[in-house]
Amino acid sequence: MLQIIQIDASEMDNFSYLIYCPETLQGAAVDPSMRPELILEKAAILGVKLRLLLNTHGHQDHTAGNELILESTGAKLAAHPDDLPNSDIPLTEGSKLELGNGIIEVIHTPGHTPGSVIFKIDKQIITGDTLFVGRCGRADLPGSDVVALYESLQRLKKLPGETRIYPGHDYGPTVTSTIGWELENNDYFKCPNLQSFTKLRLET
Ligand SMILES: [Fe+2]
Repeated sequence: MLQIIQIDASEMDNFSYLIYCPETLQGAAVDPSMRPELILEKAAILGVKLRLLLNTHGHQDHTAGNELILESTGAKLAAHPDDLPNSDIPLTEGSKLELGNGIIEVIHTPGHTPGSVIFKIDKQIITGDTLFVGRCGRADLPGSDVVALYESLQRLKKLPGETRIYPGHDYGPTVTSTIGWELENNDYFKCPNLQSFTKLRLET
């Protein structure tokens, strides 16, 4: 089963991730942010070879370390073309990436940006800036769409309650949570309709 390692990667509370297959030692870097060397160090310690570089979306605080990872590993860049038009592997809803003996599934969750995606590994999701512990991503940035973000969150709410969330920033009381915890505690998840969500997201 694929393993996920969370890495504290910037002054902006960004999280990077290293996904790897313990049997084959094939790995994927996710959102290398400002400290891409930390993913490289972790991969080296584990003896993991980075085959893929994944971006949850195109914002600079997530992609700043792409170049170092790509140049030093030969990994292929996979991202949604609406955010990163020049990736090696364009992602879309339902894309499946093989990594060693495991599969990384792609859920397209537009809203924070048009090309925001979530990476699903068994019952774990790497959520970028779509969903944080206790809150959700901003919808007031260039390219954001509050209606699309609301709809993306409605899809995530339907995942099994035990699904573990690995967010793009350390903004909550804990570094990870579950869909079940969010359903009880995340005010953005608890909004009963689009109107209340729009008001909460854009006016407070
Ligand atoms: Fe972002």
